[in-house]
Amino acid sequence: MQVLVTGGAGFIGTHLVERLIENGASVRILDDLSAGDISGVSRLLRSGGATFVKGDVRDGGKVMEATRGCEIVYHLAAQSSVPKSTENPSLDLEVNIIGTHNVLRAAKECGTKVVFASSSVVYGMPRRIPTPESEPLVPHSFYGASKAAAEDYCRLYSELFGVPTVILRLFNIYGPGTNKGLMFDLYRKLLRDPKRLEILGTGEQKKDYLYIDDAIDAFIAAPERSRCVGDAYNIGLGESYTVFQIAQMMFDVLGLEGVEVKPRGGTSWLGDVELTEPDVSKAEIELGWRAKVGIKDGIRKTLEYFGKTLGPLPSK
Ligand SMILES: NC(=O)c1ccc[n+]([C@@H]2O[C@H](COP(=O)([O-])OP(=O)(O)OC[C@H]3O[C@@H](n4cnc5c(N)ncnc54)[C@H](O)[C@@H]3O)[C@@H](O)[C@H]2O)c1
Repeated sequence: MQVLVTGGAGFIGTHLVERLIENGASVRILDDLSAGDISGVSRLLRSGGATFVKGDVRDGGKVMEATRGCEIVYHLAAQSSVPKSTENPSLDLEVNIIGTHNVLRAAKECGTKVVFASSSVVYGMPRRIPTPESEPLVPHSFYGASKAAAEDYCRLYSELFGVPTVILRLFNIYGPGTNKGLMFDLYRKLLRDPKRLEILGTGEQKKDYLYIDDAIDAFIAAPERSRCVGDAYNIGLGESYTVFQIAQMMFDVLGLEGVEVKPRGGTSWLGDVELTEPDVSKAEIELGWRAKVGIKDGIRKTLEYFGKTLGPLPSK
């Protein structure tokens, strides 16, 4: 089976490409390398299981060319930073909305199924915790607004044109390979000073963290098991932890004691959603998917990776 992964050189994309090849697919990657790293996928390119097309999803012709002959497009390419979306809302609009529309148009032309990587941020500040998929979408950032609009385009391409689409609302994904997010940020600060840790915001921000392998399981299950009529699924652990709790779990794994934790106060960044916890029962029932990796195990594996790639913490 030939498939296309847009954003395949990014954090989640690299893991997805690897799994798809393991499962016997031939993978084409479309990425402009604006945030991704070719070295992450170079081993997979050398193995012959994947080919790479350097290109921008804003370029409709390039997307059409890359989609030809593919049974499934996993559409992950995006501007995915909330702070960047505040600085430059038009970039999100172009990459995340027009880029997604280009993918859908190509899928319609080529008879291809689309799996769209959306985000928990589409809910904004949800009224209901745990949050089900039926919660109204009231995004609190331009990034969230672009993902919510792109979701609508997926649903409409299914409803009006019969293009098979499925939407995954990913919560915070972490694990080996990541170069952003809470654990990465805290580890880098601890590398500089393992006795004192400054954290953004109050430290009481409480979010769901899902280990990368579980997220990839959801990408594999979705096109096989969903009806592919534009349905959205929450893809998260289904448990939430505060920044303080995550920091403490990291200290435990790293054997750190007596670290002075200093919350900076206020909000972490404009557009941040400080409380997320998904109701994951729809994915459990309809996709037969649920997370398998618990938070402590996931943190341990991630810290092993940081130790190897960023270096061990200085001795206390
Ligand atoms: N990592 C998370 O916690 C998380 C949570 C929710 C949703 N998501 C979504 O999942 C997807 C993948 O996230 P990630 O963490 O791997 O992000 P990432 O930034 O590591 O990967 C995105 C990839 O898309 C590529 N890209 C960006 N703009 C492009 C363009 N115009 N044309 C072609 N390629 C382009 C980048 O070079 C990068 O390789 C994104 O759509 C993101 O919004 C991620």
